[in-house]
Amino acid sequence: MDKRLADLVGKLESDQGLLLAEYAELIDGRTPEVAELLAERARAVREPIYGRRVFTRGLIEISNVCKNDCLYCGIRCSNRNVKRYRLDPDTIVACARAGWEYGYRTIVLQGGEDKTYYADDVLCDVIARIVQTCPDTAVTVSMGERGRASFERMYDAGATRYLLRHETATREHYERLHPANMSFDHRMQCLYDLREIGYQVGAGMMVGSPFQTTMDLARDLAFIQSFRPDMCGIGPFIPHHDTPFAHEPAGTLELTLYLLSIIRLIHPRVLLPATTALGTIDPLGREKGMEAGANVVMPNLSPVDVRKQYELYDNKICTGDESAVCRGCLARRMAKVGYELVVDRGDVAR
Ligand code: 5AD
Ligand code: FES
Repeated sequence: MDKRLADLVGKLESDQGLLLAEYAELIDGRTPEVAELLAERARAVREPIYGRRVFTRGLIEISNVCKNDCLYCGIRCSNRNVKRYRLDPDTIVACARAGWEYGYRTIVLQGGEDKTYYADDVLCDVIARIVQTCPDTAVTVSMGERGRASFERMYDAGATRYLLRHETATREHYERLHPANMSFDHRMQCLYDLREIGYQVGAGMMVGSPFQTTMDLARDLAFIQSFRPDMCGIGPFIPHHDTPFAHEPAGTLELTLYLLSIIRLIHPRVLLPATTALGTIDPLGREKGMEAGANVVMPNLSPVDVRKQYELYDNKICTGDESAVCRGCLARRMAKVGYELVVDRGDVAR
């Protein structure tokens, strides 16, 4: 193996970070051998913190109505071919309780930006009801950008975590993935506000999104190094046929796994999901994600009749499976590669 790259891996592990140019070098110089070294070191640093225990989050896709028009996303507002839905509060709470029975101790409410229907009082009420109904369960919200006051109200209602991927840490790249009315600064501001309010915060980016360069990824890693999110969701970009990026190539399994290992070394305690997108580009993607350093999976808890309608990208897996089936399936898949799904809130290690 190239000595320079092996040295960079050593430096990354001991310093929990690299310079921008070094990240770029590590990405551009990658070989299967370097990937294996990174994965081996990633598993080694994960071992004393999380072992081979895998945390689960039950994901409820509460609405596919979105005011935004992100160029990569299948539920962007200008896609007229999506049948839009919104789950009502009773349905959401029932899904959460069913998830609790299956063993989930984190419920994620995810949806498009839909502040007209899910106004603060409606969301806060749902959050409080889940806290009431599901003992010792963390409520996570992933409903896009909102104002600081809104984040504060949800926190007061009992939500303790918020997922908002930064998508890309490069302003110019952000502007090529989003319409002009969306702001890079506002997105970043949201992340800092959430952190200040007291949330455990999740950031993250797509791998191989259109126009992404090595330097863009290096800046993503530098951002993760400085912001140190509690969770970091990364998955390959996958084109959706009804978006302007329909004919763009998907991100690769290989680069996603490589970055998962790097992120584990930057931030050993980070909660790192093997995402559904990773399971979509490769039938064993999530298992391979674990071997690269991930420690979280986020199975779907949405009612089966709406799953197909929450298609952010083509061929998304698990859209036809009952929630109980998904949990059992993942437990089996993880056991096969030597990991154990646990019944646990799965807080970030301190
Ligand atoms: N491919 C992969 N991931 C996508 N997301 C949205 N659209 C796509 C796509 N086409 C991701 C975004 C968003 C998360 C909920 O899903 O990163 O933050
Ligand atoms: Fe959903 Fe396998 S995880 S069916």
